[in-house]
Amino acid sequence: MFNVESLAELKQINKIAGQLKRKIDLALRFNPDISISTHKYITTGKRENKFGMDEAVIEEIYSNQSAYSNVKIKGIHIHIGSQITESTPFIKTIQKVKHLIKCLEKKDNKVSYLNIGGGLGIVYDKEKPQTAQEFAAKVLPLLKDLGLKIILEPGRFIVGNAGILVTKVLYLKEAVSKRFIIVDAAMNDLIRPSLYGAYHNIVPLVIRKNKNKPLKAADIVGPICESGDFLGKNRKILVEEEDYLAVMGTGAYGFTMSSNYNSRPKVAEVLVKNNKPYLVGKRENYQDLIKRELVI
Ligand SMILES: Cc1ncc(COP(=O)(O)O)c(C=O)c1O
Repeated sequence: MFNVESLAELKQINKIAGQLKRKIDLALRFNPDISISTHKYITTGKRENKFGMDEAVIEEIYSNQSAYSNVKIKGIHIHIGSQITESTPFIKTIQKVKHLIKCLEKKDNKVSYLNIGGGLGIVYDKEKPQTAQEFAAKVLPLLKDLGLKIILEPGRFIVGNAGILVTKVLYLKEAVSKRFIIVDAAMNDLIRPSLYGAYHNIVPLVIRKNKNKPLKAADIVGPICESGDFLGKNRKILVEEEDYLAVMGTGAYGFTMSSNYNSRPKVAEVLVKNNKPYLVGKRENYQDLIKRELVI
């Protein structure tokens, strides 16, 4: 399924579909110009964001469909952002998209489906996100009278809290103003804290008794040469070297956003099913890092 982001992309898909002698179904992504209270890097439905097209462009494309003879425009797509914990932005967006669909239908354009995207938020810290039922109770009444096939694309909501990142404590460091817990995972393994200042709960896998109360807060940092390389800041966690920590809520935007930054091999991925671990992704090694390099 293609969700088309611009007129230029539509032309490109139409051209390639023609070369392949195919007729391709697609949807046009609508930018509803909606503000949401999430990090600005994961807001995708404001006019200034690069995503989607405004009403006028979509109407123009629909009215000029014969120019794109290798595609069938089947519907409208929206995705306004991620980690949205309240229903208001979804409601406002659906109201806007309904207006657009009604305008299109008035001009005899057929819209078969509406893809309402993803974006449902999860609990990382103290968030109180809407449940799936609460979301459905708010949006379904708005969608019913459209009589369209509805498509959803939830990502984080399904897998975010199904994954953890396990990391080993390498060193403990007491500086004048701070304690540091240096671990073997870094920003290349989980970039959300560095990229968006995202909060992930971090829990020790060995519980230790605190003899030197009060416990000073510590930054949990990786071994990369960047001050932005941290997994958590100011956490009251008691650990010893070689203990393991679990960074919670890393099932979404964790491994998929990991990289080889600083020539660090990627971590192994383990699936736990019925209390049994299964290796589902091999740990990379240094050989993997250089295997695509060529000597002239
Ligand atoms: C078009 C589109 N749909 C759905 C998603 C999933 O978003 P979320 O994980 O917030 O549900 C994304 C995330 O980038 C996206 O770009």
